[in-house]
Amino acid sequence: MFFIIFGIVEYFVDSGDQPAFIEKPVVLLFLLFVLMIIIAIEAIIGAMENILYQSLDEEGKARYEASKVKTPKFFIWIKKMYLKLLGSRPIEEEHEIILDHNYDGIKELNNDLPPWWLYGFYATIIFGAIYLLRYHVFNGQNQYDELEIEYAEANAAIEEYNKTAKDRVDFNSVELLTDASSLANGKQIFETTCVACHKADGGGGIGPNLTDKHWILGGGIKNVFKTITEGGRDGKGMIAWKQTYKPSEIAQVASYVLSLQGTTPAEPKAAEGDLWVDENAGPPSETNEQASDSTQVEMN
Ligand code: HEC
Repeated sequence: MFFIIFGIVEYFVDSGDQPAFIEKPVVLLFLLFVLMIIIAIEAIIGAMENILYQSLDEEGKARYEASKVKTPKFFIWIKKMYLKLLGSRPIEEEHEIILDHNYDGIKELNNDLPPWWLYGFYATIIFGAIYLLRYHVFNGQNQYDELEIEYAEANAAIEEYNKTAKDRVDFNSVELLTDASSLANGKQIFETTCVACHKADGGGGIGPNLTDKHWILGGGIKNVFKTITEGGRDGKGMIAWKQTYKPSEIAQVASYVLSLQGTTPAEPKAAEGDLWVDENAGPPSETNEQASDSTQVEMN
């Protein structure tokens, strides 16, 4: 009963790496309390049983005893197995195996090897033979191979994790997002936070025009991601947004900013910075075209 409660508490109380009763003294207190109650109940039941027993007459006592002692079959079976494996002879049969060695009254029995020992020994022989064949004849994986395999598996798992864990994106791994929901989230962020300085259509105000092909801090998803994450040049007004937004959100808003490329804002601010040419855009190949098309839209 106590261990069941203990297990339930461990399962439901969130205690990190440590067991709950070490992490949280209250839990320890609670468990002690439960234990004490269980012991108390047990003691009370025992005492009541004893009182009832004493109040019975002889016949009643006998009947009570008869009804009580009923060893479950399972335990009987275990006991039988135990005796079998032990292989010892009962004292009454000892005269059959006694040797006629007699040293000052100390005699010797010629017992068989205990079956548990004998079968265990056979098992080690079989194990040894299989081991020898597997690792020394057929060159099975040794511990170094196993280590390497586990490393490879772990690396694959890390890669898989990084692929799906959006907030692990950084300057190097960020890619332009083009799906509608990412852009919609990006737009949302832009409209709550960035419009004050960049205008809703990106035409620029305190901050520069984000729709033209000129960039002060570099164009393309990587640079824009970096600018939004780390902020602009000191004292210019563009702060680092990494405290406010998660990397995945910055990737979204950066993608949204780039989706404004080539649009025509109502009151465009004059271009600032240098014309940004995507280095990857070199001679057109299929992948490059895809990766850079949003930054390469021609402005009318
Ligand atoms: C307080 C005003 C302000 C806010 C708010 C602001 N910016 Fe800026 N932003 C600027 C200024 C000023 C610059 C120019 C920085 C420089 O010259 O170093 C800039 C630069 C940029 C650039 C680089 C432009 C270039 O030409 O290289 C990007 C991209 C940008 N902001 C995106 C954003 C996004 C996205 C947000 C919202 C999360 C945002 N900004 C919020 C003022 C602001």
